[in-house]
Amino acid sequence: MANLTIRKLDDAVRDELRLRAARSGRSVEDEVRVILGEAVTRLPSEVPATVSAQRPHGLPASASGLARLTLIIGGGIAAYKALDLIRRLKERRIEVRCVLTKAAQQFVTPLAASALSHERVYTDLFDAESEFDAGHIRLARECDLIVVAPATADLIAKMAHGHADDLASAILLAANRPILLAPAMNPLMWNNAATRRNVLQLRRDGILTVGPNAGEMAEAGEAGVGRMAEPTEIAAAAEHILRPPQPRPLAGKRVLITAGPTHEAIDPVRYIANRSSGKQGFAIATAARSAGAEVVLVSGPVDLAEPAGVSVISVESARDMLHRVEAALPVDVAIFAAAVADWRVANEGEQKLKKTAAGVPSLQLVENPDILATISKLKDKRPPLVIGFAAETEHLIENAKAKIVRKGCDWIVANDVSPTTGVMGGDRNTVHLLTREGEGEDISVDSWPVMTKEQVATELVARIAGAVETKS
Ligand code: CTP
Repeated sequence: MANLTIRKLDDAVRDELRLRAARSGRSVEDEVRVILGEAVTRLPSEVPATVSAQRPHGLPASASGLARLTLIIGGGIAAYKALDLIRRLKERRIEVRCVLTKAAQQFVTPLAASALSHERVYTDLFDAESEFDAGHIRLARECDLIVVAPATADLIAKMAHGHADDLASAILLAANRPILLAPAMNPLMWNNAATRRNVLQLRRDGILTVGPNAGEMAEAGEAGVGRMAEPTEIAAAAEHILRPPQPRPLAGKRVLITAGPTHEAIDPVRYIANRSSGKQGFAIATAARSAGAEVVLVSGPVDLAEPAGVSVISVESARDMLHRVEAALPVDVAIFAAAVADWRVANEGEQKLKKTAAGVPSLQLVENPDILATISKLKDKRPPLVIGFAAETEHLIENAKAKIVRKGCDWIVANDVSPTTGVMGGDRNTVHLLTREGEGEDISVDSWPVMTKEQVATELVARIAGAVETKS
């Protein structure tokens, strides 16, 4: 890869780089490498490198459950682009409430912002209607993020010095939410020592910025750094803060999961089954997919929606399940959450069994293949990590320990499925994770508190991600 030469950085960016490098004890060059590395692995790719991920916490959800943003439109020629920004934000399912400074109203009207945002627009700190209950505090707090676009030199200066003499600056001073600025001004104003000092101060205060970009100015014949970032860039940066990309520790890994019961036919209309709902296996498939894995879910008959992005293979019997599992190999991790019927009927009727004078038919049972044991004992295609479940109604840990050895798997998730626990078919689970290294009988037991099946799945996938990383 070619060496990197970075020229024409504007001063504020250079100062910020030096500051970051000093803070992390790296050279400026190394710091740039780290920033570039983070930017490339981050999704979506258009999020600007100047925006650092910051997860807002403890935020009130809007009534619709959508992310909510307060957009402060400052008074600059770029204000017209703020109208397009409202559209771009709404496309991303972000609710927008606009505040216009007095100067902004020279460029765009409250009516236009209101029509696009479908919300009331706020303009005045001394508006009796919104200030009777401290409206500026609500506008600062009843949102997940505040965006200032365009952030003019004047607004930036006011923020840096803590002024609060109009609605916009009062909101910014009262805010306890992340703030994203999209500066826009003439290049001379951007490069002015006062602006550079103010921007640096705001960045030190944790304020995020997107842009400004280099390019033509509205003023004829002028060009340089100072153009407001494009609305799509600002919207992407806002979304990146509101919905930070989740870590994908299982990216590039293939995970196989079995789930649900199996149905073993007695005749064309009757079958042997069990009470498994498939919820735990489906939750694991969803969590593994969210962690970036390619997921194959081989499921017995269940009444659940297919998890998005997961390849679901529906089967009926234990023998079908074994065939489809074998066909899905090789995988990096195999998790056997299915409640496979241990027996099937040897003398399966081709026609419906009829009541006869001869009395009650006798069903002869034969043992089904043990899918977990079969896969655990494979020579060539054994997945590096094989995880079974142990559904027990008594001597939980003792039976689970015996099962891990007998079946030859690496981990067992043991759960008590006695009717009083409500685990079979229910939404919660209390599990114990048994792990062993190699083929030894030294087994560790980690008992987890009662959790939802989704939480069990998330925790299990986190453990798997840790183990996969250690192994590789
Ligand atoms: N399992 C399997 N194939 C079978 C039976 C069980 O793959 N024919 C798997 C299950 O998916 C689970 C583990 O083996 O991961 C243990 O299942 P469980 O029902 O708890 O135990 P069994 O093997 O059926 O043994 P027992 O009935 O004696 O408890």
